[in-house]
Amino acid sequence: MSTNPSPHLRDLAAPRNFFIGAAVHTGAFSGDESDYRDLLQREFNVLVAENMMKFGELSRTPNTYDWTHSDALVDFAAQHGMKVRGHTLVWHQQLPKWVTSSQWTTHDVQTLLEQHIKTVVGRYRGRIWAWDVVNEAIADSGGYRTDSFWYQQLGPEYIALAFRWAHEADPNAILYYNDYEAEALNPKSDGVYALVRDLKQSGVPIHGVGWQMHVGEGWRVSDGHHQNAARLRELGLELAMTEMDVRCQTPATAAQLESQATSYREAVEFALATCSALVLWGFTDKYSWIPRFRPGYGAALPFDAAYQPKPAYYAIQQALVGTDEAAQAQAKD
Ligand code: XIL
Repeated sequence: MSTNPSPHLRDLAAPRNFFIGAAVHTGAFSGDESDYRDLLQREFNVLVAENMMKFGELSRTPNTYDWTHSDALVDFAAQHGMKVRGHTLVWHQQLPKWVTSSQWTTHDVQTLLEQHIKTVVGRYRGRIWAWDVVNEAIADSGGYRTDSFWYQQLGPEYIALAFRWAHEADPNAILYYNDYEAEALNPKSDGVYALVRDLKQSGVPIHGVGWQMHVGEGWRVSDGHHQNAARLRELGLELAMTEMDVRCQTPATAAQLESQATSYREAVEFALATCSALVLWGFTDKYSWIPRFRPGYGAALPFDAAYQPKPAYYAIQQALVGTDEAAQAQAKD
């Protein structure tokens, strides 16, 4: 087992009523690398599937589902006393080919989406803490994302329908709208705010907003983050940081890794005060999506590719320890 400094993150988070998590990589999780699984269960108290629960991963041929990986993840979490975030029911990416390449009527697509949501949410009823019901439905401009299969087939109504169907399938799951670059104040976060406010006002069962938090090492908490969090919480919604990683230009310098540690520390401190959870998009640089999707960048997670803790790990640890004052304020919430 690699060096894994005590105290572990989950043991610091739990007494503060906080959840610290990581996305799980299919290949690493189902392979024979014991470090990967040991570290997951030792450090985190919430897991999310990086890909396993996406429509295109679950269903490669019409109306059939392969639950092998997603079941294994949910079982592993239960064995180790961890919660699971479900990701994601309705997204414009990673859809099955059999869905996007067929001709459908509006009615067919509505039935297809209802069945998909009820099949997946129903299978894990009572075992998934929170679902990212709709992912990335708002464009950078703040309007609806129009390059989505669901938008094109069903119009904006698909969003409210998806939340209603998910709620019918598991009335106890916490239902989230999740998006990226809608964390501080900008046209996109205004659009997300307007969307979730309208859903809430129409009685749609939505309970939370997810901030993905794919950021760079210069990232810091700003007034805009506080203001956006406050207006969302005033709607009666909870917040979570759902996919955090902090990319560096590679090869990363020591100064960049320190700056990255500051980003993580500020995010954890902010999340302790305003969010139910902070979930990282992976935990080791060995399996991060960043180098593939952002060429020239990487080193985005708190453990390096050899599972050694980086300054970011210690910064998260320190932020979770906090000061006595911070812990007391948290206990009063
Ligand atoms: C990414 C995964 O990390 C990659 O492995 C996959 O190839 C593409 O999707 N926002 C999301 C996540 O909501 O589902 C994405 O995950 C990253 C951006």
